[in-house]
Amino acid sequence: MIDYSVALRGAFFDIAAVADSADDIASHARYLDDGVLFLRDGRIHALLPWQEAEQYLHPLTGYRDLRGKLLLPGFVDAHVHYPQTEMIGAFGEQLLEWLTTYTFPVERQFADADYAAEIARFFVSQLLSHGTTTALVFCTLHPESVDALFSEALRLDMRLLAGKVMMDRHSPEYLSESAEQSYRQTRELIQRWHQRGRLGYAITPRFAPTSTPALLAAVQQLREEFPDTWLHTHLSENLNEIAWVKNLWPEHEHYLDVYHHYQLAGPRSVFAHAIHLADAEWQCLHDTGSAVAFCPTSNLFLGSGLFRLPTCWHHQVRMGIGSDVGAGTTFSMLRTLGEAYKVSQLQSYRLCASEAFYHATLGGARALRLDDYIGNFHPGKEADFVVIDPAVTPLQQLRSERCKDIYEQLFVLMTLGDERNISETWVNGKRVWGNAAEE
Ligand code: GUN
Ligand code: ZN
Repeated sequence: MIDYSVALRGAFFDIAAVADSADDIASHARYLDDGVLFLRDGRIHALLPWQEAEQYLHPLTGYRDLRGKLLLPGFVDAHVHYPQTEMIGAFGEQLLEWLTTYTFPVERQFADADYAAEIARFFVSQLLSHGTTTALVFCTLHPESVDALFSEALRLDMRLLAGKVMMDRHSPEYLSESAEQSYRQTRELIQRWHQRGRLGYAITPRFAPTSTPALLAAVQQLREEFPDTWLHTHLSENLNEIAWVKNLWPEHEHYLDVYHHYQLAGPRSVFAHAIHLADAEWQCLHDTGSAVAFCPTSNLFLGSGLFRLPTCWHHQVRMGIGSDVGAGTTFSMLRTLGEAYKVSQLQSYRLCASEAFYHATLGGARALRLDDYIGNFHPGKEADFVVIDPAVTPLQQLRSERCKDIYEQLFVLMTLGDERNISETWVNGKRVWGNAAEE
């Protein structure tokens, strides 16, 4: 007999193990067209084919029948800014002008704790309704913005990483702080939130141009004091940004050297964008066990450039997919994967569905060093997953009826799918988003 609290019957797809190449992913892909997922104490207890599972079902507890739906591990968003939710789709600028014209004025509002709480609730509900169960999130300079987001994530028992933006130069007066204040506030926030429930603290210097040497030294000190926190920043996104970094830090060979000089590359360090890197920087990312976030919708929207996925594989650098809302244009990982496919096509690289879904689930979890906890249906992992309806529009229905196998179905989902395909989202064994009317 299996002792379980919830059993769900449906089709399941995941990647069973971490991979070193795209071919490796294909060999670890698992598809069960009729299976039962047993949950207990918020965790995956077992996933069995229907024929095996049937004998373990209790007559009273029974199971929920989700046949016709596809269950996937919850999506991992490896880079997103919650305060930028309201400015998604801002017209006309590339990175540096976009920051001063649109971003900084919006972020200013998060000094107000009530405002921060309202947007944090909206943001988390957007993550969940789009099937994202874990994210690495930028807040703003204000500690209130961090308290608001973590409070909401704690209420829902989410595995979420976030931190206060640190910046002490080249920002407007209303968004500036000293290195000392940034250190002190970050330290307090780490003590308040890190490792509480499923939360983790990410030390978040915005990027090199808004950091003085004193600020990066303060970040280094925090990393030494709290070695199991994360480090989250931007790297090599835009050509003007890179020229500015060269100007500000002439003694450093490359952009990444600025961070590396302060020992900021390493396990649990996540660098967003990483578009225009020299080979030596890729090598440094590999050698230090750092990760990068590929943000296709943002990189296209801001005209930043094309992330080189084959190069990332070549150097064996950990990688996750980021929505990068609000420079990114959607919370949907399905749509984001569709754009990643197009970015890869422009470089003659074929991003197949199993690889794409790996990056959005287990691969993203690995980039964030969370793959022991989340990323697939392995027994003992935390039960974060999504229930997908593969055909919610007439076009999707027509197309999906003609799919010959699960890979084509998944590929069509990343080409035509979006949040309308997410019927339910489960976090830590509880349904936190979806149509309650069914039960
Ligand atoms: N670089 C520094 N700040 C930001 C930001 O808010 N968004 C993006 N896309 N890049 C940045
Ligand atoms: Zn960003």
